[in-house]
Amino acid sequence: MAQPILDSESILKSLHSKQNPFWSQYYAFYSSWYGGIVKDPGPFLLLPVDDHIVHRGDGVFEALKSVDRKIYLLEPHLHRLRDSAERIGLSLPMTLQEIEQTIIQTLKVADRTETLVRIFLSRGPGGFTTNPYDSVASQLYVIITKFNPLSVEKYRDGIKIGKSLIPVKEGWFPQIKSCNYLPNVLMKKEAVDRGLDFTISFDASGFLAESSTENIVIVDQNDILTHPPLDKILKGTTMTRCFELAKKAGIKTAIRPISENDLRNAKEVMMMGTTLNVLPVTSYEAQPIADGRVGDQSKILLKLIEDDTQRGTAY
Ligand SMILES: Cc1ncc(COP(=O)(O)O)c(C=O)c1O
Repeated sequence: MAQPILDSESILKSLHSKQNPFWSQYYAFYSSWYGGIVKDPGPFLLLPVDDHIVHRGDGVFEALKSVDRKIYLLEPHLHRLRDSAERIGLSLPMTLQEIEQTIIQTLKVADRTETLVRIFLSRGPGGFTTNPYDSVASQLYVIITKFNPLSVEKYRDGIKIGKSLIPVKEGWFPQIKSCNYLPNVLMKKEAVDRGLDFTISFDASGFLAESSTENIVIVDQNDILTHPPLDKILKGTTMTRCFELAKKAGIKTAIRPISENDLRNAKEVMMMGTTLNVLPVTSYEAQPIADGRVGDQSKILLKLIEDDTQRGTAY
């Protein structure tokens, strides 16, 4: 089959002829490579293929939500973005304050009440090697998409989780929200393949770590809301905020290693993350957690986070 040689006009024509059902969910796209914002980007949601984020996963990212035109936990997300970038020696293409302003401008162009804000900081285009110094300059991409919350049944009945067989990230890698998320992808795949909502990982010593893109916490036998130590997991903005709110509400909290036995014998188990807030777990490896019903603390914490969402950064 002879492939045509394309000029810029025929490329544009070809792009405009494409269809993708997800495009209607993409409201605005900022690209430092383009040097501006595209409304309803559709076929123009493009990245240079020699950007090291594409061929080596060399970049970091964040996902945050905006509800009622208020961005929830903007500052902790921006700080984690900066910290992740620092950890891999990736210099920001603009100041953190300029990134914040760019996010807000892109949200204004999107002009929707409830959205997910996806931020990618990439090593940038240049060369196809692993050498990060081959890139011309780091880049920022911000994409405003539709926010698709989970069904109410999941919160009412709780979810089913299982144990992951995917090798856990070692050393300090779990602490970075890098675009090198193959283990996370494979955890999601095994959950879908097994008909579960999520799978969860345990570290090399057998202690609970986290899920694909969610943290997991328990209410232990002593009624203490507990999450694993932060060296083996991503420090979730939702989990951190939830523990702050819980403490203020007089709930006892702790950070300590959690064994599989602790999990099986917990009074309650919950997943926490940006898109799901606080999601009760009622079954682990086909065994019920406690009496298999959604517990009181899960309900209280979900309400605390939902109310707190109203205190986001208005734009
Ligand atoms: C590996 C991992 N753990 C936990 C979380 C939860 O973090 P947050 O509450 O900030 O969304 C995420 C979020 O994307 C994640 O990727």
